[in-house]
Amino acid sequence: MLIDPFARKISYVRVSVTDRCDFRCVYCMAENMTFLPKAELLTLEELDRLCSTLVEMGVRKLRLTGGEPLVRRDVMWLIRQVGRHLRTGALDELTVTTNGSQLAKHAEGLVEAGVRRVNVSLDTLDPDRFQAITRWGRFAQVMGGIEAAKAAGLAVKINAVALKGVNEDEIDRMVEWCGERGFDLTLIETMPLGDIDGDRTDQYLPLSLVRARLERRWTLEDLDYRTGGPARYVRVAETGGRLGFITPMTHNFCESCNRVRVTCTGTMYMCLGQEDAVDLRTPLRSSEGNQALEQAIRDGIARKPKGHDFIIDRRRKAPAVARHMSVTGG
Ligand code: GTP
Ligand code: 5AD
Ligand code: SF4
Repeated sequence: MLIDPFARKISYVRVSVTDRCDFRCVYCMAENMTFLPKAELLTLEELDRLCSTLVEMGVRKLRLTGGEPLVRRDVMWLIRQVGRHLRTGALDELTVTTNGSQLAKHAEGLVEAGVRRVNVSLDTLDPDRFQAITRWGRFAQVMGGIEAAKAAGLAVKINAVALKGVNEDEIDRMVEWCGERGFDLTLIETMPLGDIDGDRTDQYLPLSLVRARLERRWTLEDLDYRTGGPARYVRVAETGGRLGFITPMTHNFCESCNRVRVTCTGTMYMCLGQEDAVDLRTPLRSSEGNQALEQAIRDGIARKPKGHDFIIDRRRKAPAVARHMSVTGG
């Protein structure tokens, strides 16, 4: 079992399989991004070996992220491979966080591989706004993807980043829309990660404010439900749906952190909001056995920091962390 210096059990690993994405969401990326050369990436076989080693070391939940994980070529091979650990019971959950663009193609394959639930990023239900937020996204394609996921029997959670002046007037509508379809909805505070073209101070909307506004219209009942992620959930009495709040800015949840993340180059970041990292690619490539790899993973966990120091402030121009969310996959 993996235990960090603050006695937190590390049972959840988020693996970014590519830093590339077919969208350019305004809070996530600049329009012109430089991506990693393919030679830098772990191969799918190496990713499988890494995931399997993590499972052997006690990890119970794996989430593939990106960039957009489903744009990586042959990613379904990896998902099927890692899915074998679900069947042996060594792994509780294998899932993906996706922008939905490729879901229509892959929903059934995901189910066959053992995936039960997907998180789809969707910040608006308005096609023009969707275009403005994602820059390159195609709304109809994402809607088709979400429908396909539902039809294939996947549980869908919609992730929406709350953006001031952009989608704040739509949150009621999203609660309703998700409620009607049986989707969970999670609202997320924007985090200061990487340079974007705009100013994050203009985008930041505290969820404490959103919740107070929602309570004028909806009855929100606190729930004990946990997914192993950072969201805290309420039941919306009127729709019966679940609504989650991810509040890295207004309420720090680091004390209960159970996760680390690995990038597509095999760099393990022990915290989304800190720079410290360990290289897992070198030990992966240096020997066929997993001893060096396991040691590097243990070394990283032993250095897991207490938490992030995010602030969004007009006086502070630089982001808290230079790398974009698409590098670490959230
Ligand atoms: P569930 O398994 O459904 O709970 O998913 P999740 O919330 O763990 O994952 P998801 O990929 O849907 O992430 C939603 C948001 O939570 C993203 O914006 C992530 O960046 C953010 N998030 C996840 N883990 C952390 C964390 O450790 N720290 C911070 N600050 N944000 C996180
Ligand atoms: N702050 C908060 N959430 C972000 N995401 C991407 N960039 C940011 C940011 N700077 C979200 C995406 C997706 C999840 C993985 O992270 O919308 O839902
Ligand atoms: Fe792509 Fe997700 Fe970033 Fe949007 S938030 S650009 S969909 S990685």
